[in-house]
Amino acid sequence: MRSPDEFRDRMLSLGLARVSEAAALAAAEYIGRGNEKAADQAAVDAMRSQLNMLDIDGIVVIGEGERDEAPMLYCGESVGTGNGPAVDIALDPLEGTSLTARDMPNALTVLAMGPRGSMLRAPDVYMDKVAVGPGYPEKIVTLEIPPRDRIARLAESRSCSMAEITVCILERDRHDALIEEVRSTGAAIRLIGDGDVAGIIHCTDPLRTGIDMYMGIGGAPEGVLAAAALTCMGGQIEGQLLFRNDAERARAVKLGITDFDRIYSRQDMVRDYVIFAATGVTDGTLLPGIRRQSGYYETDTILLRSKTGSMRRMTYRHPIGGQVEPSE
Ligand code: FBP
Repeated sequence: MRSPDEFRDRMLSLGLARVSEAAALAAAEYIGRGNEKAADQAAVDAMRSQLNMLDIDGIVVIGEGERDEAPMLYCGESVGTGNGPAVDIALDPLEGTSLTARDMPNALTVLAMGPRGSMLRAPDVYMDKVAVGPGYPEKIVTLEIPPRDRIARLAESRSCSMAEITVCILERDRHDALIEEVRSTGAAIRLIGDGDVAGIIHCTDPLRTGIDMYMGIGGAPEGVLAAAALTCMGGQIEGQLLFRNDAERARAVKLGITDFDRIYSRQDMVRDYVIFAATGVTDGTLLPGIRRQSGYYETDTILLRSKTGSMRRMTYRHPIGGQVEPSE
């Protein structure tokens, strides 16, 4: 017989979608208002209070930062009612705070949940990443070979020219050399201002998004979140933590990481079944953003389960100002 505290991903997934929706709705008020901090805070507050309604014994393993710098949803914080399965939660209440404040595409709220120990406790440092969608041989691309060779291997596997490959890269000065190398192959680049979780997820559906591969340096927490999505949708990711100083190395040591050069595969970052939810805040290729209609907001969420590989797209209508009274 199943234990009542087993990770019942099917039941929990709907709760996860509600958490994601709540954070997005809270951030909606701040779309285009130029206030990144307020947008993030609203999403954090809403995500936390919804999470605390779930019957789980949850621990935040990827969160808003370390306890001393993030008062809410910090790494190690307990969430949920405490009555239920022991689960780990990776979250980013607003992935793309600046995108939200500037009303630019692809801001999302994201979170993943799995049994205790299912996800890498990554420190809040940078991570070099490479990712592709499903359907390719294992290790078709890896951080161990130069960017030029990754593109050549992908093109060969697809029986196309390198010019037909599009790579998504965060627009940052640190990527100047990478961008030059990718361009020298003839491949196209989709430069994004922020939001590499969305950038990586885009690789899972190249026909819709036009993106075949993701490369470059972004946040390590975002790397684990993206790995959770790819665990559900298929696709490969590798990530290597990058440390700028001893303080960052100390953060890793605190989490039990001693091999600073390790390259993490998707399976190293996500070691068990997980569920994943993301809600669009601003319009994106993957998900429409929040729409304000007369009397209600509408949100779109994707809900993924790695156990089945299923994806559910959910549209939710939320009355503005609370419950709509029945007309007399
Ligand atoms: P937040 O908006 O959640 O802070 O992150 C946005 C983001 O673009 C991530 O998607 C990415 O991994 C990271 O920031 C990159 O960091 P930086 O802006 O320091 O290059």
